[in-house]
Amino acid sequence: MKFDLFGVAIFISFILHIRTEEDIDPNGYIIFCLCMGRFGNQAEHFLGGLAFAKSINRTLIVPPWRTYKNIPYSEWFQIESLRAYHRVVDAEDFMKNLAPKVWPPESRIGFCWLSADRPKSECQMKEGNPFGAFWNELNVSFTDTATYQLGYDEYSTEQWHRLFPADKYPVLALKGAPASFPMLAEHRHLQKYMTWSDRILNEVRHNQKTLFNNEPYIGIHLRNDIDWKNSCKDVESYKTRSYMASPQCFDLPSSTQTYVTHKICYPSDDEILRLLKNVVLRTRIHNIYVATDKRPMINEIEEYLAAQRVKVKHLDPWLPVMDVAMLAHADYFIGNCVSSFTSAVKRARDVHDLPSSFWGFSN
Ligand SMILES: *[C@@H]1O[C@H](CO)[C@@H](O)[C@H](O)[C@H]1NC(C)=O
Ligand SMILES: *[C@@H]1O[C@H](CO)[C@@H](O)[C@H](O)[C@H]1NC(C)=O
Repeated sequence: MKFDLFGVAIFISFILHIRTEEDIDPNGYIIFCLCMGRFGNQAEHFLGGLAFAKSINRTLIVPPWRTYKNIPYSEWFQIESLRAYHRVVDAEDFMKNLAPKVWPPESRIGFCWLSADRPKSECQMKEGNPFGAFWNELNVSFTDTATYQLGYDEYSTEQWHRLFPADKYPVLALKGAPASFPMLAEHRHLQKYMTWSDRILNEVRHNQKTLFNNEPYIGIHLRNDIDWKNSCKDVESYKTRSYMASPQCFDLPSSTQTYVTHKICYPSDDEILRLLKNVVLRTRIHNIYVATDKRPMINEIEEYLAAQRVKVKHLDPWLPVMDVAMLAHADYFIGNCVSSFTSAVKRARDVHDLPSSFWGFSN
């Protein structure tokens, strides 16, 4: 029932959209670069920025994802499903169809957060990577800058309107995403408006057929490259519940953990094999899909679970988002609590009530 209503809501907003496509939003637009980290971080920033656009009631110009180049949002997710939540327009569409009217080149102002004692010249929208490339690929240059002194969430909506009224500033082009990292718990539910594109879904179906002959599979995420090992080295001395994406599991009502431990952040091979075996025995699923940035542990897993005759597959896809999609569609998922790559998978699964767990938690 929930899904039916959601479908209807998307359909209605789709119709409304067709009728008003050429209309210019008198409340203005907002765009920002997803310039921090890889897909997991970008997705958390995207959802926070989406919520912010709605709170200040400007149409969100949906930014492209950032890899070595800009990837239009719609290659990975459907733009349409965002419309059930808020007014959006794809960035490339905006540049082609609306920018000539709403945001001609001589009017393009960049907005930076900068403390009051700093000169405005420090607001360099296109300085550094990937900021320069992001705007260049959208064919955007800035003729001026404006700054704001408080954090994006420290102004009320009215203050935002007073600072930057839409008639004077039709497009707010922010240097960074107006969002926290890790994302706020209250924004996690917005994941339901991020539905996969047909292109990604077709590839998931193709992989499910060729790897597992459409049988159920357990997806696991092993974050074990050297950068991660270093990030986790001293984690216990921080005595924190909030380290990178860790609020995703420390916020769970079932969490009895006090702080992020080394075992949660960088689980040993023994811990990985232990929990995986529990899950294989419990679910009786014998296919395992591994996503990793470094070491897939295929031999270790096959040896340890030889009696269960597991089949272990690792695609190492060219685009990590394919791993996210494969894990999001697994019948069971085990991920890394501290990783925002895992959190993107976990949120996508929660939308459909699919079971997930984390290394270092004893279930
Ligand atoms: C938000 O913006 C839309 C479109 O410009 C407008 O129709 C609506 O009245 C605005 N809502 C509020 C609460 O100002
Ligand atoms: C940017 O300009 C190039 C060259 O004119 C054009 O091919 C491309 O489509 C433009 N991109 C956008 C997003 O408008």
